[in-house]
Amino acid sequence: MCDRELPLTLLVLIFISTSETCTSRTNITAVEGEPFYLKYCLFSPARENETTTIRWYKSSESHGRVELNPSSSPRITLHDYVLEFWPAELDDRGSYIFQMGNDTQEWKLSVIGRNKHSCFTKKQVISRRVEVKKSLEITCNNSYYQKLVNRTSLYKNCKKLSENSANPLLRKNAEFEDQGYYSCVFSLLHNGKPFNITKTFNITIVKVHSTVNPVLLGPKLNHVEVELGKSVQLNCSALLNEKDLVYWNFWKGNGTDPNVHEEKGVKIRTSEGKWRASTILRIENISENNLHFLYNCTVVSEGGTDTKSFILLKKADKADIPGHVFTRGMIIAILISVAGVCLVIVCVTYRVDLVLFYRHLMGRDETLTGNKYQNAGISYLMLS
Ligand SMILES: *[C@@H]1O[C@H](CO)[C@@H](O)[C@H](O)[C@H]1NC(C)=O
Ligand SMILES: *[C@@H]1O[C@H](CO)[C@@H](O)[C@H](O)[C@H]1NC(C)=O
Ligand SMILES: *[C@@H]1O[C@H](CO)[C@@H](O)[C@H](O)[C@H]1NC(C)=O
Ligand SMILES: *[C@@H]1O[C@H](CO)[C@@H](O)[C@H](O)[C@H]1NC(C)=O
Ligand SMILES: *[C@@H]1O[C@H](CO)[C@@H](O)[C@H](O)[C@H]1NC(C)=O
Ligand SMILES: *[C@@H]1O[C@H](CO)[C@@H](O)[C@H](O)[C@H]1NC(C)=O
Repeated sequence: MCDRELPLTLLVLIFISTSETCTSRTNITAVEGEPFYLKYCLFSPARENETTTIRWYKSSESHGRVELNPSSSPRITLHDYVLEFWPAELDDRGSYIFQMGNDTQEWKLSVIGRNKHSCFTKKQVISRRVEVKKSLEITCNNSYYQKLVNRTSLYKNCKKLSENSANPLLRKNAEFEDQGYYSCVFSLLHNGKPFNITKTFNITIVKVHSTVNPVLLGPKLNHVEVELGKSVQLNCSALLNEKDLVYWNFWKGNGTDPNVHEEKGVKIRTSEGKWRASTILRIENISENNLHFLYNCTVVSEGGTDTKSFILLKKADKADIPGHVFTRGMIIAILISVAGVCLVIVCVTYRVDLVLFYRHLMGRDETLTGNKYQNAGISYLMLS
């Protein structure tokens, strides 16, 4: 190849242009059907000289490590530091290794399938947040394929907005209805074949940052049932401003309790652009001292403060003595009812025998005159 004779200055130039668009991440994702490339990041060009040869390998579980050459695949082309896919296909996934002398670089490539029903792939979006009334600018740039790109179109939620105009393709003051997916579609020709490359921005329009009155979430007073000797975590969450503070107030008159720990809080930005913070108070090896004490969580901001309290109660406390009596009473009442029902069933089942037995006890004289089944019938009526 001609660059075997490259002077050092040219190598340096290559280094500069290489480092601009080289593929420095290790895990990369390509989209099925789109042109794609891997480019080695030249870290020390001056150390290399013309005699070093460059090799590319693909390593996959099914085929092991295979050296790539120009005849490996009609879709894959090798240009020294760059490996190009025209286009990438699902079976291109695997590890790719660049080797030049002792220098190697390896990438793990995954290829995601194209969604036939959408003009973009949801897994491959760049999320951006723009404040309402601020400038919303969509610029479609593709530095690597720039020279080949014939036409650039901009789509919003897969509806065409504009085509081939100068960058940026969109510039306006953001309104809430501007929220959506903006796709830059670069159309290009390679060896006479047309290809598209899509780059999609997920634009979210958020309210202008304004101060809110911080609020603690949940009730102001919380009773938490605990068992002595166990531990408990109290979670305090607030909606607040970025600079507001949430903290626990658990000092007792006589100093700190070694079993009470305030954990590092977290603060996250919600999708509406607000802030939500939560902080945990961990109480270990709960003792009587921890019960019936107000553990307060407070949020402070320029606008004011808000406090909520937690009280620990012993679990047994709730089911105390009257409760026990009540439960016992219920059990006895149920047992008596069951016994009563059983007695009735027995009586009904053995009614004839019972009447005969009764008559047997109360005197035989009556039986001498009457028919015992007739009398039994009368008793049956009386019984029921
Ligand atoms: C190129 O590298 C080889 C060893 O890797 C060395 O012997 C040779 O002198 C180098 N040439 C230049 C021009 O630096
Ligand atoms: C786009 O952004 C919104 C808001 O940040 C988010 O809820 C949504 O999941 C994002 N969509 C994708 C496909 O990442
Ligand atoms: C790309 O541009 C060339 C000339 O500049 C033109 O002949 C060709 O039709 C264009 N291709 C597409 C897909 O627009
Ligand atoms: C590229 O996108 C254009 C619309 O911008 C579409 O008409 C064309 O079929 C696409 N070509 C390929 C190869 O996907
Ligand atoms: C505390 O509560 C908030 C909101 O209810 C929740 O987002 C957070 O994950 C909770 N933290 C823990 C450690 O449970
Ligand atoms: C917790 O808050 C309550 C009510 O706001 C207050 O009466 C109590 O003194 C506070 N306790 C501590 C330890 O700050």
